[in-house]
Amino acid sequence: MNYSNELRPVKLGDLIGQKKVIDRLKISIKSCQQRGECLPHVFLSGFSGSGKTTIGLAIANELDTPIQIINCAAISDVKSILPFLIKITANSIIFLDEMQALPKTVANLLLSVIESGKLNLGKSGHVMAVEIPQSTFIAATTNPGSILETIKNRFLLQYQLQPYTQTELCEIIKKSASKLNLIIDDTASMKLVCISKSNPRLVNHSLLFTRDWAAVNNLSNIDISTIDEIMVLLDIDKDYLDANDRLYLATVKKHQPVGVRTLVSLTNLSSDTITEIIEPELLRRNWIVKTKKGRKLV
Ligand SMILES: Nc1ncnc2c1ncn2[C@@H]1O[C@H](COP(=O)(O)OP(=O)(O)OP(=O)(O)O)[C@@H](O)[C@H]1O
Ligand SMILES: [Mg+2]
Repeated sequence: MNYSNELRPVKLGDLIGQKKVIDRLKISIKSCQQRGECLPHVFLSGFSGSGKTTIGLAIANELDTPIQIINCAAISDVKSILPFLIKITANSIIFLDEMQALPKTVANLLLSVIESGKLNLGKSGHVMAVEIPQSTFIAATTNPGSILETIKNRFLLQYQLQPYTQTELCEIIKKSASKLNLIIDDTASMKLVCISKSNPRLVNHSLLFTRDWAAVNNLSNIDISTIDEIMVLLDIDKDYLDANDRLYLATVKKHQPVGVRTLVSLTNLSSDTITEIIEPELLRRNWIVKTKKGRKLV
């Protein structure tokens, strides 16, 4: 069983937080259903683990329609996206994950599909237009700034997911714990949030690890002492920093201002780990600052 998927909310109403986004989406869904039309295209941006895929899947569930997920990082050219496009059925959803990774030639091809349902194949002079059934494209990205405005403005519904409050993250833990038949008290939940960089995905991962630890130690209730022991086990310090965070901070301190590429080569951390996992929390804490010349400690 895939527990990460088991913990994913199914319907929009099951999501915690992001109230404005969810309320507006519910209105758009209801009104397009009343008119018997397709939902307009949706553009979702937000940090990794913030709920973009969850919202895409929940929209498909609300509409009770099939969804195709395309990982744009795996699309290298027009040929590699065609199998997805020819499978599009009327009123279905096409989820473009990591939209920022889509090559420009493919993005240009998609423009006419998204806008007018026409897939233009062939070279200039010999273009063949294939009709694609009307459907909803949902784009997801962690880096909306890198996407051309000409593409972005084809998406009528644009939403930027917001950071989660501690209360919302504790609520996610509570819901996930009940799905896993775990009993966890409030102070333990709060501490679990602190070691999970205020990120819904990491919060669930920490909870799953806690569940495993409790199981092998024959514990039925999770309290703060359990989380303290898990912190020792995972090498998380009193500032809730793990080994990667400490390595990152020590490297920035020594080489500041320093760019991501240099940090990757100095630390052996991947650039995704640096920009998507380590830095968002340190920026939130105001411990680091991004300047034109690179990252610096505050
Ligand atoms: N609003 C939410 N309420 C409850 N759980 C959530 C919420 N957002 C995310 N989660 C949990 O966090 C996990 C990660 O979310 P998701 O996969 O949607 O993130 P993402 O924004 O698509 O990340 P990435 O950019 O890495 O693809 C989900 O499986 C779900 O369990
Ligand atoms: Mg995703």
